[in-house]
Amino acid sequence: MSELAMEPLVHNAWYVAAWSHEIDDGPLARRIMGEDVVLFRGGDGKAAALEDRCCHRGVPLSLGTTVETGIQCGYHGMVFDGSGACVDNPGEKTGSAFDVRAFPVVERQHIIWIWTGHPSQADESQIVDFPYHDMTDEWDFNYGRYDIHANYMFMIDNLMDLTHLGYVHGSTIGGDPEAHNDAELTTTRTERGAKYVRWMMASPPPPSFVKVAGFKGRVDRWQEFEFVAPSSVLQWGGGHDADTGGREDRNKDGGLAVRLFHHATPAGDSGFHYFFSTAVRRHAASSPAGAAFHQDILEAFLEDKLFIEAQQETISKYPERKLILREHDKAVAFSRQAIHQMQASEMSAAAE
Ligand code: FES
Ligand SMILES: [Fe+2]
Repeated sequence: MSELAMEPLVHNAWYVAAWSHEIDDGPLARRIMGEDVVLFRGGDGKAAALEDRCCHRGVPLSLGTTVETGIQCGYHGMVFDGSGACVDNPGEKTGSAFDVRAFPVVERQHIIWIWTGHPSQADESQIVDFPYHDMTDEWDFNYGRYDIHANYMFMIDNLMDLTHLGYVHGSTIGGDPEAHNDAELTTTRTERGAKYVRWMMASPPPPSFVKVAGFKGRVDRWQEFEFVAPSSVLQWGGGHDADTGGREDRNKDGGLAVRLFHHATPAGDSGFHYFFSTAVRRHAASSPAGAAFHQDILEAFLEDKLFIEAQQETISKYPERKLILREHDKAVAFSRQAIHQMQASEMSAAAE
């Protein structure tokens, strides 16, 4: 099993290919798990993913346009439906020799999920559930994405050890480094990954919290993060004025609560698409609070990007060197274990 910094890719898994709205206006080219993929909606509105290569002369299909029956190659007009079947070969007969590769796709909760492993093993019950994307009265999300030049697991490491917040994100979502280092931390291994809850009692609120919720004094702040292998992290966090019972009832009125969905879809071994969505409870996405929080997150995640890409550069120079785990890294260690488990079961399935 790998103990190295970079993790091999897990193919038999569902990954976020795009946010739903990204393919509303035409085809989208994206490199996913080492494959060039075109994502689009046919005339029926159903999302589809095909290899981004026309069978005829190898032109990317993403240069074409969507038509009633599927996607039309921009070069000589052949049309392929969502299953990859050639449904129009202008002036000539169609046939299965002209089909292109299709990937299983499921659209759910504002996410287009893609399966890059063996199609026969694409089990929809394994898709991560994030119902909050559909609960727009309570949680109205803003959606973002960054392309990051690093192994996808560096993002998971980053999210599963928040002691970086006080150092990397001091001016936005971070706050006092000491408070982060002293946070009460409960970490558990879950069936598909790891979960932790951190409490920072009577701690100074970070600048984002003050801006969004107008806190005047200290807060009892929580952060709950769950990693679902191989690539999703579900976040619930917030705070209430210190000593007002926020710990006993995090859902009580007042204070601040946020939810974020994070997902790192590998483009290849050392690049990934970082998808993230942000919502402030009971604030519309475009409201001052919703927009300000998302803006802070956009800035904060650029700070992460800087560190993670620099980390990749160093690690690429010495890929055989191992990393060290600190005590704070329990959730990181559990997350890596979960990935190793997926890699092992993929390897044993391939050997059968
Ligand atoms: S290259 Fe696509 S139709 Fe010719
Ligand atoms: Fe961060």
